[in-house]
This record gives sequence, structure tokens and C-alpha cells, in this order.
Amino acid sequence: MKPALLVATKGWDAETWAGRLVAALPDRTILATDRAGIFQGPESALSVVRYVLVWKPPQETLDRLPALDAIFSLGAGVDHVFALSRLPDAPVVRIVDPDLTQRMTEHVVWQVLDHVRLGPTYRRQQRAHRWRDVEPPAAREVAVGIMGLGVMGMHAADALLRLGFKVRGWLRTPKTHARVETFAGEGGLAPFLAGTDILISLLPFTAETRHLVDLALLKKLRRDGPLGGPVFINAGRGGSQVEADIVAALRDGTLAGASLDVFEEEPLSPESPLWDFDTVTITPHVAAVSDPKALARQIAEQIEAFERGEPLKNCVDRERGY
Ligand code: NDP
Ligand code: OXD
Repeated sequence: MKPALLVATKGWDAETWAGRLVAALPDRTILATDRAGIFQGPESALSVVRYVLVWKPPQETLDRLPALDAIFSLGAGVDHVFALSRLPDAPVVRIVDPDLTQRMTEHVVWQVLDHVRLGPTYRRQQRAHRWRDVEPPAAREVAVGIMGLGVMGMHAADALLRLGFKVRGWLRTPKTHARVETFAGEGGLAPFLAGTDILISLLPFTAETRHLVDLALLKKLRRDGPLGGPVFINAGRGGSQVEADIVAALRDGTLAGASLDVFEEEPLSPESPLWDFDTVTITPHVAAVSDPKALARQIAEQIEAFERGEPLKNCVDRERGY
């Protein structure tokens, strides 16, 4: 009997993932939780589960798994796993996959182009039935700064470079790149911001990135760029921004616009003032959705390789938190 799997997801349909996994690993027991992330079957079924695939798993579900070999995050981010107060002593593996990465690049390019090509202005004019041309800047005049130049940040950077934008990146550990000007750590943050017109966050949520993007940070962005003021795009994690400060920055002109896919509390409250700015695009945490059609097979292949003795890929560093 081959080791069993449990899909444990809160808010996502675990059965859909389980169905895809059954197709990829037909000779296994594959269990699924309900939409609250709770497994409704007996403890005996869980005692043989060696792999759990999770999205925002409840503590009580992980506490019921005594024999885990690995925890697979069904997203690229793992903050939902590290948010738990107790974790089994098993490696945490995250998704790194071309399908997910490509979706994020599409989102980033969509939002950058919308701001550069004056989407908010033309939507306002359309509502007023007004025909008036306003000249957008050329891509080469706009500096896009990506905080978090990891798998997603680097892929998005390459696409933006191909479109002609100047791209700079901020990361934790110094790295060089032929066409992206890079800045690292606390010391690199101010010079990075000073040359950035469109700030993109693709940062993971960790103790270090929590509430990083506040009013003081936004005030350090380049003010005399071609967009009439800086723009902030966040598709990383909402916990790295201070939403009250973003509202203040939009009101006092520190920011000319924003595109927010992630929020401190999700779903975003209907009372949030962010909904009402016509220079702000709100999307409900969909920049890069995990598609079981694309991702289940990759996880199945990882499990099979691991059982042949190969090391697990994309294991997360627990100390670093991403
Ligand atoms: P990676 O781990 O590949 O990249 C993370 C990047 O952030 C790295 O460049 C890292 O620096 C940098 N970083 C981390 N902490 C700091 C810090 N304290 N200061 C400066 N830089 C820092 O992750 P991915 O690119 O795969 O994914 C990024 C995030 O995107 C995920 O963690 C997730 O939160 C979010 N995401 C959001 C989705 C959505 O739909 N909105 C979908 C998928 C992911 P270094 O290179 O030095 O390690
Ligand atoms: C992820 C996400 O981390 O969808 O993959 O947020």
C-alpha cells in the first residue's frame, strides 16, 4: 500500500484537488477536507497520511497527522502555514511552477500598462462621454521598481524589460543582474525607492516585511517622474502594507494611483475607502491563482521522485520564513 495524501484547504475546494491527484497517483488513498479545512473521517484514516497539501489549514487538522513526510503549500506563499502555532516536524514545500509564475507576470504587466497608458483617466473620460487625448509617457521613461526579485519578480521583470521599461529590484541578499539594477537590504531601500515611479511588491509575508509599505516609505518614491506621481502595485501579501497609510497617500497626492490584489484582511471590508478611488484597481487576491489542472501533476511527480530517494525541491527555509 503506497503512502496516503490529504488535501486540507480552507476556502478552496479540496475535492477538486483530490480528483486531479487521483488521476496523477491512481494507486493511492487521497483524502480531502471539507471547505473549512476539517477532515470529517476517522483518525485511523489520518494515521497513514504521509503528505498533506494545504491552503490555510486549520491547526486542528495538522495536529491530527502523526506521520507526515512533507507539507506542500498549494500556493507560492507559505505564510498561511507559518501562521500556525504548531507545525509537524516535516519539510514545507512551496509551489514554483511556470503556470503560476506566468499568471503573476500577466497581472503585473496588465496593471503597469493600465497606469502607464492612463487607464484611470480614460475610464473617467468615458464615464463623462468626453473625447480628449492625453499623452502617455513612453515605457522607456518609466522606472518600475520590484520589491521581491524572486521567482515571480524576476519573471515579471523580464517581461517589463521586453516592453522597454527601466526595471530595478530590491531583495534581501545582494545579487547582480545584467539588465535590472538591484538593491539589497535595509541600506538599499531608500536609493531603490528614490528612482522608482511604479513600485511593485511581490514580497512574501514575513516578520521582516510586515507593514513595510507605509506612508514614510511611499514618500521616498520618485516624485518628478512621468506619471504625475508614483503608483503602488501589491500582488505579494497584504500584510506587508499599511492600508490606512495607502489611503492617506492617495488623498494627499503622495501616490497617484494603486493596484491592490492583496489586503491586510481578506476579503477587503466593503467599508474600506480604497474601493472608491477611481485611480485604484482592486482585485480579490487573484493575481496568480493556483490551478489544480496545472499544479497537481507537479506535486504528484515530486512525491514520486521523493519516494525514489530524490530530494524535495522548493523546500522553504523555516528560519527565513519564505
Ligand atoms: P520567492 O521566494 O522566489 O521571492 C521572494 C523575494 O522576496 C526574494 O527576492 C527575496 O529576496 C525577497 N525578500 C524576502 N524578504 C525580503 C526582505 N525582508 N527584504 C527584501 N527582500 C526580501 O517568492 P515568489 O517570487 O515565488 O513569490 C513571492 C510572493 O508572491 C509569495 O511569497 C506570495 O506571498 C506572493 N504570491 C501572491 C499571489 C497572488 O495571487 N496575489 C500568487 C502567488 C504568490 P532574496 O532573493 O534575497 O531571497
Ligand atoms: C500564493 C497565492 O501564495 O495564491 O500562491 O497567494
